[in-house]
Amino acid sequence: MMRGFVPFSAAVLLCSVMVTAAGQAPTPPAAGTAAPAQGGLPADWLPPAPKNLKLLPKDIQPKELLAIMQGFSQSMGVRCVYCHVAGPDPSDMSAYNFESDRKEHKEATREMMKYTDAVNQSFPASVGDEPKAGEQRVTCYTCHQGQRHPPTKKPEPKPAAAAKPPA
Ligand code: HEC
Ligand code: HEC
Repeated sequence: MMRGFVPFSAAVLLCSVMVTAAGQAPTPPAAGTAAPAQGGLPADWLPPAPKNLKLLPKDIQPKELLAIMQGFSQSMGVRCVYCHVAGPDPSDMSAYNFESDRKEHKEATREMMKYTDAVNQSFPASVGDEPKAGEQRVTCYTCHQGQRHPPTKKPEPKPAAAAKPPA
């Protein structure tokens, strides 16, 4: 079981890298999605040593843990408080109880981490380019695209545009 989770953490790191790159694009994602998750943190704040990791390596460095958490946040367009128990002011990082499993989104995320790992393990080897060592093809961002609920329906065609002949 544990074998899969090491590549997984690399995958989430990759996903945070991808989102960072997306944030630098000329048209940033809609306000209130990806950017604030990172923007809300004090400049060199690092999380406390973890006490309740069930999937990520228990000896993970705080910096790497934070990068993975920012990857989750940006992939879903949420802040830490979406998954973690905060104090009265969710921007006060010292008042969080990160180890608590009380929020159902945290537990759902553990399930989604395992699911993402399984998707990558069963990805057909003959399709697409081989991923670089430590990288994964499918990340949280692949599906979520900065949203809590990934889009599942194709966009409605715009009537005017649809009527125009192809350029
Ligand atoms: C989408 C859900 C989600 C978001 C958003 C999220 N986390 Fe987490 N976080 C988790 C999960 C799940 C774990 C436990 C992972 C495990 O069991 O290996 C965790 C664990 C942690 C831990 C370790 C706690 C302990 O003592 O074991 C810290 C610290 C942490 N997160 C900080 C953050 C910070 C800071 C943010 C915002 C930048 C954040 N998280 C955003 C889901 C999330
Ligand atoms: C293959 C696509 C896919 C991947 C990969 C994926 N998700 Fe999801 N996720 C979904 C879908 C679809 C839902 C259901 C959304 C809904 O109910 O509309 C969902 C739901 C969730 C929810 C519950 C949302 C809610 O508000 O109830 C969380 C939390 C979540 N995903 C986190 C993650 C995280 C973190 C990752 C990466 C470790 C991830 N997901 C990877 C497709 C995916």
